[in-house]
Amino acid sequence: MNWKHGYYADSGYTYGYYVETSPLRLAWAALIQGQQLPTRGFRYLDAGCGQGLSLILMAAAHPDSEFVGVDFLPEHIAHANDLASSCGLRNVRFIEGDFIELEKDPACLGQFDFAVSHGITSWIAPAVKRGLFALIGRVLRPGGVFYNSYNTFPGWLAAVPFQHLVLLEQRSKTGALALKAARESMAALKEGAPALFGNLPGLAGRLESMEKLDPAYLVQEYNNQYWQPLFVNQMMDDMSAVKLGYLGTATLPEAFESSYTPKVRELLQAQATPEIRELLRDFAVNQSFRRDLYVKGRSRPWAAQQMNLLRAFRFVANPAQPRPEEGKPYLIKAGGIELSG
Ligand SMILES: C[S@@+](CC[C@H](N)C(=O)[O-])C[C@H]1O[C@@H](n2cnc3c(N)ncnc32)[C@H](O)[C@@H]1O
Repeated sequence: MNWKHGYYADSGYTYGYYVETSPLRLAWAALIQGQQLPTRGFRYLDAGCGQGLSLILMAAAHPDSEFVGVDFLPEHIAHANDLASSCGLRNVRFIEGDFIELEKDPACLGQFDFAVSHGITSWIAPAVKRGLFALIGRVLRPGGVFYNSYNTFPGWLAAVPFQHLVLLEQRSKTGALALKAARESMAALKEGAPALFGNLPGLAGRLESMEKLDPAYLVQEYNNQYWQPLFVNQMMDDMSAVKLGYLGTATLPEAFESSYTPKVRELLQAQATPEIRELLRDFAVNQSFRRDLYVKGRSRPWAAQQMNLLRAFRFVANPAQPRPEEGKPYLIKAGGIELSG
């Protein structure tokens, strides 16, 4: 196997910022679960940082903290380095490296309070995933938190035959052309023989949504040899092998069970193990993308201490955000649930 390990790396990824990976959001999400993280003077690792935009914005917002991004695609690191130096940032560093190689010498990175992998772990080969997880397990300091977002079931079930076809097309065509051919075949089937679409009602919507999505995202979503959505308990098993335990969700609205119907709440609360509880939660909302928090060595504060820490957290309303109409509640949408308040 070559340096790509089956990952689709023929072109660069999109330039995204993902608010759930902000250190303050992560610290708040962890504190709800009782885990305290530093909000100043911390070290933050982005494993698979892509173009580096997210990390650069965070480094600019937290000048007293240190940020490290790693990615194996040279064009990502070249872009990230150029952007960081044109912004004059001194607290962010980018390393061109493969998880498998970095795992052999984790000391070169040092220890971190936060580690994140946004959209990596359900797209990479098993050996790369093992390397990444071993790396995270070793570079997180005790008490540190890993944010891991990935494709999950049941939300991605309907896309499985389509992704299979894309890979088959890719044996004889380049990435974007393979994707195009698979989409055209699916469109023809939908019109001429829709049995598959009856069996998988989510498939038509997924295919339609591609019209509006960035082609740079689409090839890295569907054209990877090891594309494999994971059930949450499979991820929990992998994490526990590197000393990381499930802490909670970084999708904040999902952290509050008041958004579920009483029946679902009762079902979730009756579960004795986090594996079954989280799996049923995914079934309840037809989850397709999880943003999990894992902790290396949980420290449990006393209830009053946690309450004091939560009270000490300050929130500032964003004046640029439109206010709800008089008398109407705020609505926060995430996955299959909606919170109002
Ligand atoms: C879907 S992209 C996500 C990038 C970024 N986290 C974001 O959300 O914009 C996955 C990233 O993983 C990187 N990657 C894949 N395999 C890797 C490996 N073996 N070692 C290091 N980086 C890898 C790719 O280059 C790519 O930037």
